[in-house]
Amino acid sequence: MTLAVRDTRLRELMDDPDCDLERLHATLRRFSVVNRLVSGWGAVYRSTVAPYLRGLGRPARVLDLGCGGGDVIARLASLARREGIVAEWRGVDPDERSLAVARRYAAPGIRFEATDSSALRAAGERFDLVISNHVLHHLDPIAFATFRDDSRALSLGLVLHGDIARGRLAYGLYAAGITPLAPGSFLRTDGLRSIRRSFTAPELADALGSGWRVEQPAPFRVLAVSEGGDA
Ligand SMILES: C[S@@+](CC[C@H](N)C(=O)[O-])C[C@H]1O[C@@H](n2cnc3c(N)ncnc32)[C@H](O)[C@@H]1O
Repeated sequence: MTLAVRDTRLRELMDDPDCDLERLHATLRRFSVVNRLVSGWGAVYRSTVAPYLRGLGRPARVLDLGCGGGDVIARLASLARREGIVAEWRGVDPDERSLAVARRYAAPGIRFEATDSSALRAAGERFDLVISNHVLHHLDPIAFATFRDDSRALSLGLVLHGDIARGRLAYGLYAAGITPLAPGSFLRTDGLRSIRRSFTAPELADALGSGWRVEQPAPFRVLAVSEGGDA
């Protein structure tokens, strides 16, 4: 096994429409712990999201594309609420199996919807901030280009796509660290496959092309940033 190149032949178990529902839901529920530990959104919230939302000087609309179990947008909403930042938060995912888990976070100002980036774009929806977490590495080249362009078209301002940075150390640390959380879920197999499918920062910058920059906001993380506007 090598981590020198992306292994895009690997398919994650959760991407199988016929996968075991109980294990899938256990995986999605535990993403709240895994994302909190590894996804770096706390740092991105402090450095980028909070200053941007505050700077708007009005209630913002925030979209999480491919929200899965909903924990990332729920966490951002909770951090913002504590600071008195008023916003409308929307998580969307075409996969109803994920939304069943995400909807436990539904609350005034936070809602979840079964739809995808292209349907929202076709409906003319616009948001101040569009984010995603752990979506880019799942996508084949055509779906990647569509998702990238939709996300810019949907944003009036900022787009932030967070993902894993592929590397040996990330792989080794995840393999050891996930052991207590893994039983009864896809966290071990899919997490390791995710790392093998993920981009390095230069690869992601190359795949995204002009109008984007790639930052590394935390260890083993990449953050694709665009100022939004029509793609
Ligand atoms: C691994 S999950 C990530 C879930 C969640 N964001 C997290 O970090 O735990 C990737 C999700 O992206 C969704 N997805 C893929 N393409 C999409 C698109 N074009 N628009 C919205 N969601 C999409 C899939 O349905 C899947 O649930």
